[in-house]
Amino acid sequence: MPDIGAPLLEAADLCTYYGTSQALFDVSIKVPSRGGVAILGRNGAGKTTLLKTLSGDLKPARGSIRFDNVEATRLRTEQRVRKGIGYVPQEHGVFAKLTVRENLLVGAMATADGEEGIEEVLALFPKLGERMAQQAGTLSGGERKMLAISRALLAHPYLLMLDEPTEGVWHGVVDEIAERLHQLAQKIAVVIVEQHLKLALGVSQYCYVMDRGRIALCGESNTIRDDPELVRLLAP
Ligand SMILES: Nc1ncnc2c1ncn2[C@@H]1O[C@H](COP(=O)(O)OP(=O)(O)O)[C@@H](O)[C@H]1O
Ligand SMILES: [Mg+2]
Repeated sequence: MPDIGAPLLEAADLCTYYGTSQALFDVSIKVPSRGGVAILGRNGAGKTTLLKTLSGDLKPARGSIRFDNVEATRLRTEQRVRKGIGYVPQEHGVFAKLTVRENLLVGAMATADGEEGIEEVLALFPKLGERMAQQAGTLSGGERKMLAISRALLAHPYLLMLDEPTEGVWHGVVDEIAERLHQLAQKIAVVIVEQHLKLALGVSQYCYVMDRGRIALCGESNTIRDDPELVRLLAP
């Protein structure tokens, strides 16, 4: 594992199952308190399972998660959110039947700053400001991802985990999302699961490549970028 000093998040030897089928095998990762960490791997490698285990959606059978020097393995999802772990899931990141405004209000409810926080995220994603009265289900793919990211940011995470934030997003908007994630990673820790290799390596300093539920390769993104093993691990 890369030497990153005192990590904000440290997961050790996570094993997660779906029923009797094991999906994570002794997965260990470290995330520094600032900057980007990319999780790569082909379809079915276990990336979503890992993020769900870190967010609290799935309970690991073995292994541990420490966040901000506190044992977090047994905390519920809402407790992890309150401690500063934000999560933008691959699917269902917004309430489709609610308007953009209502989605943001639900996100802001958990915090003291209420509607002021909404102004802040709208400054980050001005396009959403023009769509406040629109049902989230009718937004474009990119706008929906922006709304999902905004909702997670309203809880003021120290760590934001994003599962395929550019999936289904028109290429013209991908750069805008990448730029915002880059900006966020200057201030907080960002963990990004992403098929778009160039984007993932561009916003991350460290990277983990998964293969069949295990970490197969990890290191600095600048080094991994040229590792022939990366091509093999991502080949379909
Ligand atoms: N709800 C589920 N029930 C059973 N198996 C699942 C479920 N979700 C994912 N899996 C299996 O776990 C493995 C890892 O899946 P996933 O974490 O979604 O991979 P990735 O996000 O890298 O594409 C795959 O073999 C997948 O079929
Ligand atoms: Mg996935």
